[in-house]
Amino acid sequence: LRVGLLFGGRSGEHEVSISSARAIAKALSADTNASKYDILPFYIQKDGFWQAGEIAQQVLDSGAVYQSSVTSPNLWQFPPQTQEVDLWFPILHGPNGEDGTIQGLLSLMQVPFVGSGVLGSATGMDKIGMKIAFAQAGLPQVKYKAVTRAQIWSNPCVFPKLCDEIEAELGYPSFVKPANLGSSVGIAKVRSRQELEAALDNAASYDRRIIVEAGVVAREVECAVLGNDQPQASVIGEITYNSDFYDYETKYTQGLADLLIPAVLPEAIASQIQDMALKAFAAVDAAGLSRVDFFYVEATGEVLINEINTLPGFTATSMYPQLWAHSGISFPELVDKLIQLAIE
Ligand code: ADP
Ligand code: DAL
Ligand code: MG
Repeated sequence: LRVGLLFGGRSGEHEVSISSARAIAKALSADTNASKYDILPFYIQKDGFWQAGEIAQQVLDSGAVYQSSVTSPNLWQFPPQTQEVDLWFPILHGPNGEDGTIQGLLSLMQVPFVGSGVLGSATGMDKIGMKIAFAQAGLPQVKYKAVTRAQIWSNPCVFPKLCDEIEAELGYPSFVKPANLGSSVGIAKVRSRQELEAALDNAASYDRRIIVEAGVVAREVECAVLGNDQPQASVIGEITYNSDFYDYETKYTQGLADLLIPAVLPEAIASQIQDMALKAFAAVDAAGLSRVDFFYVEATGEVLINEINTLPGFTATSMYPQLWAHSGISFPELVDKLIQLAIE
């Protein structure tokens, strides 16, 4: 089977995607998979241009970002190798990859692909849409307020009133987030009116849709889900760090965060988290894989859902594959299962 490994992408998580793709390529070349799968690499440059063949292979081998000096007049000239793909494995994180756009393109190509379809990807990516789906499924979450760029930028009379409402409804500290990003890009923890105003302005530069959430003091725990209509939940993992919150630097600088698997939790809480992870997966119509992230408020015993990631970080040290390794599924087996789920 010729697997089109699709990585890079027009997103702030471009570099993370390259790392994930390198780990997956290695797993596809493992003894148990090598005879079944041939890898065809496809690298989407930061400007959206698709590279296949030697250049894509070079990025996969080196891990270094590539940008051709000539920009194509037509970004939508796909490399001829796209015709040879039997199954796509998109491992793009964030906008233009995890949000249903690529999934729409692959659906139109009528070639099976790993992971969620258009609806699951789009709902899982948009933090406002996601929260509406979670609420409908009865999943507890933090208080939040949805805001648009227009409310922040277009009318100077509306903005102060909006900030008053946010302060009254959510208090401080709160978290201001662009609705459609990942890896904490564009997220700010705010403790004052001045910080709130600056963070809203900054978030509006990333996205039309913005969410502000009440801050909670909690442990951060995550659960991996694998499957389609009868998905399974993994053991629970916990993330610990010393920074103010789990920001980009903490996520991707060696030594700043620790993963603890399995998380040390009361058994009832662990099974509650697994149950909520499966409900969240169904609520957004995810498929194949997802990592569902939670806040565990130890003081009250409350578990709040934070988010679902339909294409979670997939490097050898990332939480998603590690959770499965601790649940008895090795990295090469996991990649094989995901491909089988795509053609099931
Ligand atoms: P991303 O999709 O970029 O990972 P998250 O919504 O998961 O964004 O937020 C990133 C991090 O910010 C979280 O892992 C957590 O450390 C912190 N955070 C986000 N929202 C809250 C909140 N409401 N209360 C406390 N911490 C939060
Ligand atoms: N968005 C990153 C890749 C994650 O959730 O793991
Ligand atoms: Mg997160």
